[in-house]
Amino acid sequence: MLTNESPILVTGGAGFIGSHFVLDWFAEVGTPLVNLDKLTYAGNLRNLQPIADNPGYHFVRGDIQDRALVDKLLAEFSPRAIVHLAAESHVDRSLVGPGDFLATNINGTFVLLEAARAYLDKLDAEDRARFRFLHVSTDEVFGSLKPGDAPFEEHFAFKPNSPYAASKASSDLLVRAWGKSYGFPAIVTNCSNNYGPLQFPEKLLPLVLDRALHGKPLPIYGDGMQVRDWLYVGDHAAALRVALEKGVPGQTYNIGGWNEQANLDTVQMLCALLDEFLPDSPHRPHAQLLTYVTDRPGHDRRYAINATKAERELGWKPKETFATGLRKTVRWYLDNQAWVQEVTSGEYLKWMDTNYGAR
Ligand code: NAD
Ligand code: TYD
Repeated sequence: MLTNESPILVTGGAGFIGSHFVLDWFAEVGTPLVNLDKLTYAGNLRNLQPIADNPGYHFVRGDIQDRALVDKLLAEFSPRAIVHLAAESHVDRSLVGPGDFLATNINGTFVLLEAARAYLDKLDAEDRARFRFLHVSTDEVFGSLKPGDAPFEEHFAFKPNSPYAASKASSDLLVRAWGKSYGFPAIVTNCSNNYGPLQFPEKLLPLVLDRALHGKPLPIYGDGMQVRDWLYVGDHAAALRVALEKGVPGQTYNIGGWNEQANLDTVQMLCALLDEFLPDSPHRPHAQLLTYVTDRPGHDRRYAINATKAERELGWKPKETFATGLRKTVRWYLDNQAWVQEVTSGEYLKWMDTNYGAR
């Protein structure tokens, strides 16, 4: 019988948001959790060291596309929920090599849905009613806003512009269809740009931070006036926990920080914090390192989330402002240079050359 004490199965729990979700889970809930992660370049078990020895924590290295493995885990652990975060997540990589994005984000989600549906078929009505599938998605499925457009609401049409966004939109649509066709109990969240500790330094903030520390040029795509709606990752982890508990199957919830910033302003704020924290740095003022480079093809101009529904129906609200969250983030990266060094070798150097070499 499934109870609140039954395990949950998390996919992608060794990635940026997944790690925060897992750590938050053990801090706030503490019931057993199985983490299925392939450990691509973006997955790092070091992130989960604080809970690695917790008897309720089980790590399994594997691919969400491996149906036999997913079936085995569902049979072995009898989870009460799947929280699905595993994905290829970086837009620039999706422009260079979209294949992995279609495989993991679309086919991987399909495999999980089918495995979970077969698992549900074997449960009795009470357990079936208790089970949840939380699909973690992005605001990028909605495409790009113009200045003055209303922020994304849940009912907005999908207009994805990058291979990454198209693959996530496709997975969201599969989840929707499984709900409508099979009564599959799925909840979807669409969140804005996350930032915070443990983010892989291919994304804007940790990339710029790392380069600024080493006095390297800070690449600003195009005119730098693209707008992103930043949310501190700890607030996203909390939103997912609450969505799993209170979300209604068949519903989608937009999650965001009510915090729109042009990239140029974001990078300048980051540079000002580095100037403050590192008064003796030879690279001060760090903003002198800003360098305009060739724009990203198909670059979305503006994302903004209307998170009213999540606030009203889930009772969730972000705790951090951009100023407090950014300060925490910069402090963490300065204090955790060993983590940065570990992830910025080998494959990372190849990626930097591929993406920035000819810009
Ligand atoms: P990430 O790239 O940091 O981590 C992804 C994790 O998934 C890694 O641990 C990786 O090893 C794992 N993974 C990849 N392919 C896998 C596969 N085939 N099988 C099993 N594991 C696999 O990503 P993130 O930034 O933590 O994003 C997590 C989820 O949140 C994604 O679904 C993403 O689309 C969504 N999201 C991210 C953001 C953001 O700003 N980062 C915003 C909104 C939504
Ligand atoms: P990113 O962190 O890749 O997230 P997303 O593309 O999912 O929004 O990029 C955030 C913004 O920063 C986006 O508008 C692209 C821009 N950007 C740069 O200007 N320079 C960079 O080197 C990177 C990685 C991103």
